[in-house]
Amino acid sequence: MHRLSPSAQRRLVGTGVLAVAAAAGYYYFLSDGFPILWGPSARASEVAAGRDLFEHEWQPNDPLARGDGLGPVFNARSCAACHFQGGLGGGGGREHNVTAFEVLPRPADPTFKAGTVHHFSVDPAHKETVGVVKKQFPTVLGRTTRTGPDNCPTITVIPDFDPVRTDSVQTTALFGAGWVDLISDRAIIRNARSRGLRAAARELQGEFDNIPVGRVRHVAGGVGKFGWKGQFASLSEFVAAACANELGLGTPTTEQARPIADPNRTAGPDLDEKQFRNLMAFVKTLPRPVEVDGGAPAARGKELFGAVGCAVCHVPDMGGVKGVYSDFLLYTLEDPPPPGGGGGGYGTEPPPQLNLPDRPEDEPRPQEWKTPPLWGVADSAPYLHDGSAATLRDAILKHRADAKTVTERFKGLSADDQAAVVAFLGTLKAPPDATPLRDPSVTRLGRR
Ligand code: HEC
Ligand code: HEC
Repeated sequence: MHRLSPSAQRRLVGTGVLAVAAAAGYYYFLSDGFPILWGPSARASEVAAGRDLFEHEWQPNDPLARGDGLGPVFNARSCAACHFQGGLGGGGGREHNVTAFEVLPRPADPTFKAGTVHHFSVDPAHKETVGVVKKQFPTVLGRTTRTGPDNCPTITVIPDFDPVRTDSVQTTALFGAGWVDLISDRAIIRNARSRGLRAAARELQGEFDNIPVGRVRHVAGGVGKFGWKGQFASLSEFVAAACANELGLGTPTTEQARPIADPNRTAGPDLDEKQFRNLMAFVKTLPRPVEVDGGAPAARGKELFGAVGCAVCHVPDMGGVKGVYSDFLLYTLEDPPPPGGGGGGYGTEPPPQLNLPDRPEDEPRPQEWKTPPLWGVADSAPYLHDGSAATLRDAILKHRADAKTVTERFKGLSADDQAAVVAFLGTLKAPPDATPLRDPSVTRLGRR
């Protein structure tokens, strides 16, 4: 048999090592990770069973549940109650907003806490309000200190410090969420990094685009892609948290929400592995939004969307998912309040004299929000995390701070061109094949 000479063998091994190194280098530095070859899929029987669970109106001690059913604290009786615009799984109106709270480090307890103020409770003793939260975590009273000699004292005034902050957050649409789940962390990090490099290169040439690169949010399990603040890395974690917080249903991985008034109360899961898998099968295979043909104005609007810089943050294609329009990074779009408004920056930091630990680095600051995917946006009014913008145009004009340059450019467009950008957003529609609700009255608030 023919044998390679020792030098040819060495060459062959050398070439092999080089090829592997080149492939690894490409993977680490240039690729977005493995391409998405297959979209989300699940067995039809699981999807159908999951749909039933998504629409089911849960009751306390519900026969479908293994544990105590709905509650003890909850925001609605079904997933569909909030997620319904444009079909099952869509967004919800402002009346279904959820109240999130956070407790900043205090002298009595230097840990950072976050939670939900639930609108309803099975037992009236567990009723939650912002007032109940504030009572649990009361304002740290300020004081005045006198130091130095009597004839010339230094007087220091430490203001009161309320450690509780609340936010009202609007229901997001879940269409295409299974696709977002497939976007690799690497794609998000690489986009952020290459934007940073490009900005630095332009700065060397004396050009500034003044759009800061947003922050990647790292959470347990990877880059936070889900939620207004990117609070979860995976769809299954968010679905488990939604069961626990919105409906008070424990799952095999996540305990049901404990009432603020009874923080030591524990309970077993309400959904078993199979039920949770079915619910996930339904959520992850919800159809993805579509971009419809909006004619010439919309096509012009799409160009302008790129030209004025919207697409810097609302990146059209991310990690192999086309038409999602997000970079999944955190930004600040709100101008800071004028100085002298009490507290630092956005008026929410503790007085420095209290020497309290900072908010953990990976906890977004109050004013930071994740760029939301814009797919389906035409069917998810009102807009922004709190639903404070009634129209798409309002939403655009409320982009300040990090997006200020882009908003100024938008405002500099002719009225027709501005309308064209809005017309383009109007082509980003909920999927036409979304499942209609069996019983539209489930969306009535506080339905019993
Ligand atoms: C009371 C209203 C309400 C109910 C009920 C509700 N949700 Fe939500 N849902 C929300 C809100 C509000 C958000 C945005 C929360 C945030 O980002 O902080 C959200 C976000 C989500 C997200 C994240 C989507 C994304 O792309 O970021 C998922 C997934 C989700 N919900 C699934 C569910 C499931 C499954 C159920 C039923 C078990 C459910 N929700 C019940 C209001 C609700
Ligand atoms: C610096 C990054 C950045 C730029 C540039 C930017 N956006 Fe946004 N956009 C965001 C963030 C972050 C939010 C969410 C803010 C919030 O909820 O408070 C958002 C929200 C939106 C929303 C509301 C989406 C929803 O689901 O409620 C629309 C519509 C929108 N942007 C359109 C645009 C358009 C059009 C432009 C260009 C004129 C633009 N954005 C430029 C980051 C950006």
